Amino acid sequence: MHHAAITGWGMALPDKVLTNSDLERMVETTDEWIVSRTGIRERRIVGPGDSTTSLGAEAARRALDQAGLKATDLDLIVVATCTPDQFLVSQACLIQAEIGGNAGAFDLGAACSGFVYALSAGTQFIRSGTSERVLVIGVDTLTRFVDYSDRSTCILFGDGAGAVVLERSDQERGLLSTVLGADGAGYSHLYIPGWGGYVPETAGIFPEYRPYVQMNGNEVFRFAVRVMGDAAVEAVGKAGLTFDDIDMLIPHQANSRIIDAAARRLDLDRSKVWVNLDRYGNTSAASIPIALCEAFDYGQVNEGDNIVFVAFGGGLAWAAGVVRWGTAGVLNAHERFPVKAVAELMDDPVVAGTRS
Ligand code: ACO
Repeated sequence: MHHAAITGWGMALPDKVLTNSDLERMVETTDEWIVSRTGIRERRIVGPGDSTTSLGAEAARRALDQAGLKATDLDLIVVATCTPDQFLVSQACLIQAEIGGNAGAFDLGAACSGFVYALSAGTQFIRSGTSERVLVIGVDTLTRFVDYSDRSTCILFGDGAGAVVLERSDQERGLLSTVLGADGAGYSHLYIPGWGGYVPETAGIFPEYRPYVQMNGNEVFRFAVRVMGDAAVEAVGKAGLTFDDIDMLIPHQANSRIIDAAARRLDLDRSKVWVNLDRYGNTSAASIPIALCEAFDYGQVNEGDNIVFVAFGGGLAWAAGVVRWGTAGVLNAHERFPVKAVAELMDDPVVAGTRS
């Protein structure tokens, strides 16, 4: 069977910073309340020149550079987003117009769980032999849909993009297991009414029909704590591993209290949990790939490491997976990724896939 190794990764953030003290001037809130209830200190938000397309394309270019590939080398582009710049055409095609090539291109909508869903979809294309090289992007600009007079939501969200390149490998690399779930009946706990083709006749009467995030924070919080733990445990089990084999947990960055609860449930040392929401807030589908890029940049991710991704969000959807990091077994890996000493690592039974 083919595997789908992650050979490139890249992220992009808007320049504009919105701090908690900025928000103190906009709504009745305090830095102390926001930090203690969410862990967020500041977030990046799009300016007039930024878009889902511009952020997604920048992250994509960086991921391709890292992999030593061009857009023309790709077979497929999958973009996870709930904030496309337009509905016709897909966000994937808009990004392709910027980066080039003629790969198949489509969008996938699973809100904050979108990146893990898209990683799973891209991996299946490689496993089945349909594709050899797939670009998976998680990108959102939710702050365009935030009501900055609603203190319960405007403190949470930021914008950004993250991307990975998947390539066929003959070693056990990339996604080892996937857990996907959704409770569609609970959709109205977190949604953007009135943003789409159908607008109810009552739209003119009820002011809630406007394109802003509507959220029942307490319900989402309870749901998140439950599914983050359950989905991560299931993903580790499906991969044939135990939590002792896990080198890092990269959770969706929504709220530090939700992340803490998940880490406790998994009995994972906090040093193994990547948290950057203090600087970026909740960037929706971008949060996991951005965290992954940072974890790598800080030297926390190494060939053969087992990383758990777990996400929850609008849908209400959730997703988790275990990824084995590294480029072992990828075509021309020796030449393209020399710094990792892939040749040596491929001979090492621990990192070559027998760790479980
Ligand atoms: N500043 C000060 N006070 C506030 C603020 C604020 N920014 N926001 C709410 N409050 C007040 C409330 O009005 C309430 O006051 P009251 O008791 O007088 O009515 C009080 O604080 C407590 O409100 P709660 O909603 O119970 O506060 P909680 O501790 O639950 O925190 C929060 C709210 C942060 C929204 C939390 O529920 C949460 O994080 N939920 C999960 C949300 C989430 O992760 N959403 C994103 C999902 S990902 C996606 O798909 C987009």
